[in-house]
Amino acid sequence: MAQIYCVANQKGGVGKTTTTVNLAAALAAIEQRVLLIDLDPQGNATMGCGVDKRALPHSVYDVLLGNCTAVQAMQSSPAASFQVIGANRDLAGAEIELVSMEQRENRLRNALADVQEQFDFILIDCPPSLGLLTLNGLCMAKGVIVPMLCEYYALEGLTDLVNSIKQVHANLNRDLKIIGILRVMFDTRVTLQQQVSEELKQHFGDKVFETIIPRNVRLAEAPSHGLPGVVYDPSAKGSKAFLEFAEELVVRNGGKLPKNGTKVTKAATSHAVPIGLVKPSSS
Ligand SMILES: Nc1ncnc2c1ncn2[C@@H]1O[C@H](COP(=O)(O)OP(=O)(O)OP(=O)(O)O)[C@@H](O)[C@H]1O
Ligand SMILES: [Mg+2]
Repeated sequence: MAQIYCVANQKGGVGKTTTTVNLAAALAAIEQRVLLIDLDPQGNATMGCGVDKRALPHSVYDVLLGNCTAVQAMQSSPAASFQVIGANRDLAGAEIELVSMEQRENRLRNALADVQEQFDFILIDCPPSLGLLTLNGLCMAKGVIVPMLCEYYALEGLTDLVNSIKQVHANLNRDLKIIGILRVMFDTRVTLQQQVSEELKQHFGDKVFETIIPRNVRLAEAPSHGLPGVVYDPSAKGSKAFLEFAEELVVRNGGKLPKNGTKVTKAATSHAVPIGLVKPSSS
């Protein structure tokens, strides 16, 4: 049975996409079967996996609206050994189009019901809001991974997210729970970050992942090459942290790590065309 996790935080720019893309590649490197679903009209996760969001034959928008099956919208990431259902600006309209539809919050879950068995992990990159798109992710998921910056206002935003998750749990999805809070873009030299990190530990206990993702420029550079950081530079400290995080997740789930260790496949790297800056006029 697939572990289905939303990577969610309604705050913008807190590392959701970086976490989803790198975790997908890191899990693939330890022989897990992974599907990444991009639920954000920005399509950053799609591009970060080396898939051109401007040239998607079918996207998650088509899946949500029933224009195609999940299998039709799935494609292999050219960057690493996992599958992707991509997103682009088409998805921005879905938030409104879904409102009048039957089963509007369960459309993703229903569409993916038949393919779940093919994967060990399904990771959903959510947009920075708690609207219908995120709700579709939360209704399908078994858990939420919350990437968080260890800064003053972060804790405040967390309360809203926790309340939303509680509401979804009570009314729509009894399986949903917070899997853990992931401290990201962490800088050990900043005292405030250490203090917030400590507070998080005191408040949320073992809901805070052991692994900490450091601030690391290689992770920020990787998307412009259409690659997850863990593939772009597996030896960078940010990449190593994501590889550790993948192991932490697998072990937490009672899974086994491969005997021959982590294998970051660079095989397909040559297909991943550097994407460069996306012009404002394109989707
Ligand atoms: N550990 C890190 N070290 C350095 N830069 C990082 C790290 N994690 C993320 N970034 C950078 O921070 C920015 C925001 O990250 P990201 O896009 O993953 O956030 P997000 O939560 O998905 O944003 P949005 O809410 O817009 O979807 C990006 O430029 C990314 O490259
Ligand atoms: Mg994002």
